[in-house]
Amino acid sequence: MIKSYQKLLDGNKKWVKDTLAKDPNFFKKLSQGQKPEYLWIGCSDSRTPANEITGTGSGDIFVHRNIANLVVQSDINIMSVLQYAVEVLEVKHIIVCGHYDCGGVDAALTNNDYGITNYWLQHLKNVYHKYSDVLDNIDDKRAKADKLVELNVIEQVRNLARTQIVQNAWKRNVLQIHGWIYSFNNGLIKDLNIIIQHKDTLAPIYRFE
Ligand code: CO
Repeated sequence: MIKSYQKLLDGNKKWVKDTLAKDPNFFKKLSQGQKPEYLWIGCSDSRTPANEITGTGSGDIFVHRNIANLVVQSDINIMSVLQYAVEVLEVKHIIVCGHYDCGGVDAALTNNDYGITNYWLQHLKNVYHKYSDVLDNIDDKRAKADKLVELNVIEQVRNLARTQIVQNAWKRNVLQIHGWIYSFNNGLIKDLNIIIQHKDTLAPIYRFE
């Protein structure tokens, strides 16, 4: 039986060889530490690798991924990533990048029982309910899912803005949050242009524009 995982280890060896051929000091530089400018919050979907689709490489992006790119304040995982990225790495931009054809979003549009994942999908269903007046009026299944993908990114950007970590960073005027959507159709990322940044009047009160 061919061990399918072996190709990953073989791929790693080839990658090291190719990388060193291009830059003999590559790993030496990496070992000196990281100072990425971006925190990426994306979907776990295997087709949405942050570095690959943005043409970036090791050290460029601090990454958190989960099903349907959700920002949940009770999720100690994402909150730890957020705090470290903002307060220690001092990233300048946080990008929430959703994608069309998201299995998590499609699942949330059903009443199927997904076991423990039901708890996670509930956050998406809450977004649906918030915008049900819009979504209920879209008959086409694909168009409805696409709209929920977009609304979900907007809501996750808002969730980020509400966190104390982001609120504190805005007192220092150092952070922008962006909402993007990636499409498998053409490989392009669409900027929803929901840039939120510090306003002098902001202080600890949440404000979204
Ligand atoms: Co997805």
